[in-house]
Amino acid sequence: MHDLKNKRILVTGASRGIGQAIAIDLAKHGAKVAVLATRLANLEQTCAAIAAAGGESLPLEGDISQASTAQDSVKAVVDAWGGIDGLVANAGITKDNLLLRMTEEQFDQVIDVNLKGTFHFLKAVTKPMMKQRAGSIVFIGSVVAAIGNPGQANYCAAKAGLHGMARSAAIELGGRGITVNVVSPGFIATDMTSELPEAAQDAMKQKIALGRPGSGQDIAGAVRFLQSPDGSYITGQVMLVDGGLSLG
Ligand code: NAI
Repeated sequence: MHDLKNKRILVTGASRGIGQAIAIDLAKHGAKVAVLATRLANLEQTCAAIAAAGGESLPLEGDISQASTAQDSVKAVVDAWGGIDGLVANAGITKDNLLLRMTEEQFDQVIDVNLKGTFHFLKAVTKPMMKQRAGSIVFIGSVVAAIGNPGQANYCAAKAGLHGMARSAAIELGGRGITVNVVSPGFIATDMTSELPEAAQDAMKQKIALGRPGSGQDIAGAVRFLQSPDGSYITGQVMLVDGGLSLG
């Protein structure tokens, strides 16, 4: 089921949290996984887990808000493995603040990493995937893009931007056999969410129909499906993986 043998997949933000879970899961299902983080040293745990599962990884370093990081990373994957079959654009940040206090810098930083950083990687994989006439691109969005969240105008704007970008890219690239989708997590227990005030965490948790926060593995299963042949007729879609949080 969901066999990824010989797939070459690049995962950004793979040093911890959701990206780490995705990278390890893809490797366990047979993919070669290139993993990117801001610092190589932070990738040791991810690469060790992939090796322990009998998989192959390629650690990469860089800041995704720089176009050169995307170009260099994709080139490194193609040079090492002869092509690239999948992208999981997962890396993201938050700079939360209520509107009256949100600075232009906080707005720009989140857009630069979460939206523009994803654009850089989308653009960088397009050429090799078009040449191969195949590829699966998955952006990691967020449920809050659809329902909003106080203090996250910058973050919600960036994540909602991913929806439009995915739909446009899906139409442009579909003729070359390339799919582009968004997997939007709900409330997932990671370092990112542990930094939220406890009251905000509790408020989110109370809305989850399934009654528990999600795990990185919950997101990894959806990503793996879209990276596998089983998901190859799905494109331009937003898949909510939120335990029913968005149902209200
Ligand atoms: P995290 O903070 O635990 O991990 C983020 C990863 O992205 C780290 O590996 C970090 O090094 C990397 N990263 C951040 N900025 C980077 C940059 N400029 N260049 C390269 N790498 C960078 O976050 P978490 O919780 O694992 O989230 C992963 C993705 O899922 C993010 O896009 C986040 O917005 C999204 N998400 C998370 C939710 C949650 O409840 N944790 C809910 C909805 C979406």
